[in-house]
Amino acid sequence: MSLWKRHQIFEKNSVVLIIGILAVIAIGGLVEITPLFYLKSTIEKVEGMRPYTPLELAGRNIYVREGCYLCHSQMIRPLRDEVERYGHYSLAAESMYDHPFQWGSKRTGPDLARVGAKYSDEWHVTHLVNPRAIVPQSVMPGYPFLSETEIDTGTIAGHLRANRTVGVPYSDDQIANAAADLKAQADPDNGDIDALVKRYPKAIARNFDGKPGNPTEMDALVAYLQMLGTLVDFKLYDEKANLR
Ligand code: HEC
Repeated sequence: MSLWKRHQIFEKNSVVLIIGILAVIAIGGLVEITPLFYLKSTIEKVEGMRPYTPLELAGRNIYVREGCYLCHSQMIRPLRDEVERYGHYSLAAESMYDHPFQWGSKRTGPDLARVGAKYSDEWHVTHLVNPRAIVPQSVMPGYPFLSETEIDTGTIAGHLRANRTVGVPYSDDQIANAAADLKAQADPDNGDIDALVKRYPKAIARNFDGKPGNPTEMDALVAYLQMLGTLVDFKLYDEKANLR
């Protein structure tokens, strides 16, 4: 029987055709789905990545709450124009502690994956209070209330614990000291910075909002923005990649 004749079995019998279609789709589905079960081993570990400090995590929560992701992506694609504008393309490992990730495809404003250390804290505070004070034609809304709203330090340990539930490796020590670490990072004169940096390498402690007193939502958001894309040392990373 030629191949053509054999195919008639499918064409003349709709039940056999349906079973055939399901079999083919199942194979395609398995090919797509099976790798997801091995996701842990597909994300390459990269030196320098660590979970967010409590202050950065609080800032990230504000970023999500205010919907910054509706206008800003955090994913630099490996295309020449993007790499020239924003810096090294994003690595999967750079968002491995993000729940949910902030990749996005909508860019009303620029990508923010590497905005850390690009501007001063004062620049960010002025810009967040009123973007048009810096970019007259900006369509970004102002967020002046962030400077006036204190962070609720009582709930931050719970946020760390929730992240641990979904796989972020926060230690008991980090959770127990979450509120103290949050305050120390925004008010380095009155906190134990050595302990903070030991728990979170490369953590930067500053009075981010430039105001005395308890940490505000502005402190947290600026701390978060200033660390974005700064954890991985790309000179090291690319040297290693070249050696491979
Ligand atoms: C309606 C869209 C919109 C929203 C919402 C928005 N932005 Fe923007 N953002 C822009 C635009 C447009 C620009 C470019 C003009 C400017 O600098 O204001 C920008 C610029 C920026 C920049 C400067 C980036 C650079 O590399 O120059 C930062 C940082 C920033 N936004 C942070 C935020 C944060 C944080 C939030 C949430 C609290 C936010 N944006 C919400 C539209 C938006």
